[in-house]
Amino acid sequence: MHIDELRETYLRFFKEKGHAIIPSASLLPEHDPTVLFTTAGMHPLVPYLLGQKHPMGKRLANCQKCIRTTDIEEVGDPTHLTFFEMLGNWSLGDYWKEETIRWSYEFLTSDEWLGLDPDRLSVTLFAGDDDAPRDEESAEIWREMGIPDERIYFLPKNDNWWGPAGTTGPCGPCTEMFIEVDEVPKCGPDCKPGCNCGRYFEIWNDVFMEYNKEQDGSYSKLKQRNVDTGMGVERTAAMLQGVSTVYHLENFTPIVNRIRELSQRELDKSDKHEIRLVADHVKAATMIMADDRRITPSNTEQGYVVRRLVRRAILSADRLELRPGFMEEIAQMVIDVYKDVYEEVERNHDFIMQNLKREEKKFKRTLRRALRKLERILDDTGDITGEDAFLLFTSYGLPIEITREIAQERGLKIDMDEFREEFEHHREISRAKSQGKFKGGLADHSEEITRLHTATHLLQEALRRVLGENVKQMGSNITKERLRFDFSFNRKLTPEEIEAVENLVNDVIGNDLKVKREFMSYDEAIKKGALAFFKENYGDDVSVYSVGDFSMELCGGPHVDHTGVLGRFKIKKQENIGAGVMRIRAILEQDD
Ligand code: ALA
Repeated sequence: MHIDELRETYLRFFKEKGHAIIPSASLLPEHDPTVLFTTAGMHPLVPYLLGQKHPMGKRLANCQKCIRTTDIEEVGDPTHLTFFEMLGNWSLGDYWKEETIRWSYEFLTSDEWLGLDPDRLSVTLFAGDDDAPRDEESAEIWREMGIPDERIYFLPKNDNWWGPAGTTGPCGPCTEMFIEVDEVPKCGPDCKPGCNCGRYFEIWNDVFMEYNKEQDGSYSKLKQRNVDTGMGVERTAAMLQGVSTVYHLENFTPIVNRIRELSQRELDKSDKHEIRLVADHVKAATMIMADDRRITPSNTEQGYVVRRLVRRAILSADRLELRPGFMEEIAQMVIDVYKDVYEEVERNHDFIMQNLKREEKKFKRTLRRALRKLERILDDTGDITGEDAFLLFTSYGLPIEITREIAQERGLKIDMDEFREEFEHHREISRAKSQGKFKGGLADHSEEITRLHTATHLLQEALRRVLGENVKQMGSNITKERLRFDFSFNRKLTPEEIEAVENLVNDVIGNDLKVKREFMSYDEAIKKGALAFFKENYGDDVSVYSVGDFSMELCGGPHVDHTGVLGRFKIKKQENIGAGVMRIRAILEQDD
């Protein structure tokens, strides 16, 4: 079954079950500043999940364009994509678990619909915790459908709870459906859905949204019980077509083949990952720029994601020795694949092409400039230290892979420790949200202050990375307009250092890292490497905030949920306030 047919079949099924078919919303969330992209079909529907009346009724279905940047490091494996499509059906306070699960089962297994073998179907359910009970109700329905207990798995919140995307919002337990792939052997006796070895292919998620996550981390019941489901189009199509990866689907094979043709050298199996990365990234960048809101590559927010995708694609293309002009050619193929499904794609054709061309030129210039700087460092010192490589990366935009290659050519080795964090930026982040109320913290929780507070953590870590680990917080003060940060250091920063710190912070912002809160003993926090400067202020069980793998600090909060919302970080002023203490004032510039 081709992708077009899968879309059509799904929507027809739910139309028959009384659903109105709504168009895909924009990839750029319109009323939600807490996320950069639409990551699931429910996202644009949040107001209706909260109780607002939807003009099309209480039963909706669609095919939604999605972007997930948290999966970027997984791109190239059989199932992860930056841009993908998701089929979904929704009940806005209408039907509940019985209908949802029966319909899911019918659509997957009935010969009239997808006709998958029911014996290959496994399901997972929420195991229950202090916030919500074990989902026995759904398990019973699956049993009635004929799924035996050995193919019903109960998993914790981490696996079987969906949402919210921002700090607060609708959420609830979910039941996920997996198809067993006979060709992939079980990875061990504990092999089960969710273990990512490839044996269990996740295709559909039914979320029972009856809760709202509140500002303080607690869960309250929503006014209405909703259903939100999501079926990955590419994954399901791959399953139906019996192909081993999403790159073998009809919307990818011509692109992958063309990339092979565009290479000016002999490619082999080891180039597979790089080829897939070019295909995925050019596609995702094209689809983001296809939006009528016209995002250009830049250093902030969505524009930064486009820039990163394009630049990563260029670097991979260089290694594959693709012919010049490859990017526009691939982008054109992407446009051809989607122009009949999403009309804005053709409409913004010229805009996409111009920006790809411009960004390629710009990046080549950046690279040349960085390489000149690298040569100067080599001339001066005969070596490239970890710190040099770091400066080249943050201030000159030179990817570490390139610095490493050049170092290798000269028989030099770079200390990679300082970089490890950088490359973990996009690792899959846990959906687990930390619980509990915070002790202590700032008095004023207004949005600006919260954002600047998170920025203060990033600044401290960035200063330590650029200036060394002797940098310690000596004081901090935040107003609605700016942050002020005092730290131990005995001289003014050079313009290069300032730029490096700013770039590092903006990098973390651009990478949209998750901010996570955990509670643990003081000793455990210190053992894990959390920064703590005022020991006497902390009680027995301390609250620890971490920003992705970038920073970890004892703190009472509050903080933003993810760094993408911070805007652009800028250092406005520095001052030597004496006694080995420096003061920095910085702001966050918002787009509007
Ligand atoms: N929103 C749910 C998901 O994306 C259906 O998995």
